Parts: sequence; structure tokens; C-alpha cells
Amino acid sequence: MNLIRRPRRNRQSAVIRDMVQETRLSVTDFILPVFIMEGQNVRSEVASMPGIHRLSMDLLLDEIQECVDLGIQAFDLFPNLPESRKDKYATESYNPDGLYLQTIRAIKDRFPDIIIMTDVAMDPYSSDGHDGIVENGKILNDPTLEVLGKMALAQAQAGATIVGPSDMMDGRVGYLRQVLDEGGFHEVAIMSYAAKYASAFYGPFRDALNSAPKFGDKKTYQMNPANSREALIEAQLDFEEGADFLMVKPAMAYLDIIKLLNDNFHLPIAAYNVSGEYAMIKAAAQKGWLDGERAMVESLMAIKRAGANVILTYFAKEAARLL
Ligand code: PBG
Repeated sequence: MNLIRRPRRNRQSAVIRDMVQETRLSVTDFILPVFIMEGQNVRSEVASMPGIHRLSMDLLLDEIQECVDLGIQAFDLFPNLPESRKDKYATESYNPDGLYLQTIRAIKDRFPDIIIMTDVAMDPYSSDGHDGIVENGKILNDPTLEVLGKMALAQAQAGATIVGPSDMMDGRVGYLRQVLDEGGFHEVAIMSYAAKYASAFYGPFRDALNSAPKFGDKKTYQMNPANSREALIEAQLDFEEGADFLMVKPAMAYLDIIKLLNDNFHLPIAAYNVSGEYAMIKAAAQKGWLDGERAMVESLMAIKRAGANVILTYFAKEAARLL
């Protein structure tokens, strides 16, 4: 055959494939989400997330040391709290002596240079298991902002580098920016969960934190998975309100949304490779149904190729070992 174009020429050897490779993963792309719990020397595996543990603060500090040695420089913290600490208004979220803020201070103290990202949302502290204040079965928007503001300010005071509002209330990015600035925290960044969908893929995370909603679902605040144009509205608002990063969540089933935001905004785009995405690959690998390591690298690569320059992933440590 007389073919002028033979794309296979650029795939004929490992060296050539390497040279023409368009996307490369780096350990600096990753943020590792970690689960903390009360107690000392406690380590409890999340049943639906093999290899991922809730850790008490002492063990978490050791874990962070291991990750830092592998080159991971950024961590996103989530608290698992007993029901006894939860209430309607998530007051534990800004208790300076509570687990979460104590842990931030301890990490900051031992690792002053790493990025500590925090979660700004009521659900781990809410007796209703929702991201906002509940009244008569409804999630109240504006009163919730006040709680989020107190939470974010307390996190900034404790040493957070980036606050991550994951709640999807309207106006929260602008509100948090104002509260942080008034508190003197101009340098604390906001990574907004700009397009966060009401997804089935959060199941294992809710197991990890025991934070599932006590009634109903999150569809009045998280986005409908059927929508992409709406993601542009959410991202535009967060941009105008001062977000420093725009996040898409989940990642694997939402690569088109990652690309859409990357094409339309000049802020760094983050993607959250969520708990259910991790669990699917782990479960299939345990059954011998697919090669877990290759499936992991391929999905992380795809998320980056789609346009995410920051990837929050439970695979961070495993991937860092490979890279
Ligand atoms: C809630 C929150 C969720 C996740 C991060 N923050 C779940 C939810 O909205 O119920 C999910 C992360 C994951 O699945 O890995 N504020």
C-alpha cells in the first residue's frame, strides 16, 4: 500500500512513543484526600475503599511524612466524627479544640511547607447529614453561609493553605472570600467545587465519614448529572466571586465537563477522582477482572488529558510510587 500518512510510525518503539507523548502525570499534580478520626494510634480501614484508612492524628502525621518522602505535597482533610459531636448547625466545625482544627495545627507545625486543603461543608458535623442547615426538610442557603464562613475562618486561623467549599450553596465563594479577607487571610486560596454533581460515586466516602444524609438526597444543591451548560454558570459565578481554582467532581464520568471548564476559564482546573471511582477499580482488580495498576494510571492520565492540572485522588500514594 502506498500510504503517505502512517500514524503507526510514531508508535513503533517505546522511545518514539515516549517522545510524542502529549500528557504526563507528575506527583505534583496530586492532592491526597485523608480521613482523620479521634483517638490515639487508631487505624481503621474503610471497607469500601481497600487500602484507605481513617487515621488518628498521630498516625496521620506519620502517613504524611511517608507521602512527603514520595513527593506528595498536598493533602485534603476530612473528619470522621462520632454522632455525639454532630448537631443541626455543625458547631463542631469551628470548635478550636475539635479534632479537625487541632489536626491542621499539628500538621502545619510539623510540615510548614506542605499544602493543607480543608473541606468547607457541614455534612461531617451535621446531625442531618446534609451540607447545609435543614428546616422543615429544606436546605437553607443563606443561613448556611454564616456557618461556612465561621468554619473557613477557623480553618485559616489553624493554618489552612486552601479552603475547599464542597457544599454547593449559592454565593459561598464570594462570602468566604470576604470573610477571609476581613480576617486578614488574603493569602488563603479558595478551590471551589464549582461543578459538583449529585453522584452515586460518593457512596464509599459517606461510609468513610459516616456522613450520609439522614433523609432525602442532595439534589437541591448538587448538580444534575445530565447538565453541562449549567456547569458554565456555576464556574462563571465562582470565578467572579474570587475562586482561585475551579473543581469538577466526580472526574471519570465528567471528563467533558473538565474540558469545558478548561476551554472556558483561565484558572487552574482541578478534578476530584472520587471514592466510588477508586472503589470500582480496586474491586475489579481484587477480583482479577482488570489490571488495577494500569487502570489507575490510565484513568489519572485521562483526567489530566481532559484538562485537569490538579487531581484529588485516593490513588496519589500508589501512583507516586510508580512515577
Ligand atoms: C460533601 C463531600 C462529599 C465528598 C467530598 N465532600 C460527598 C457528598 O457530597 O456527599 C465526596 C468525595 C468522594 O466521594 O471521594 N461535602
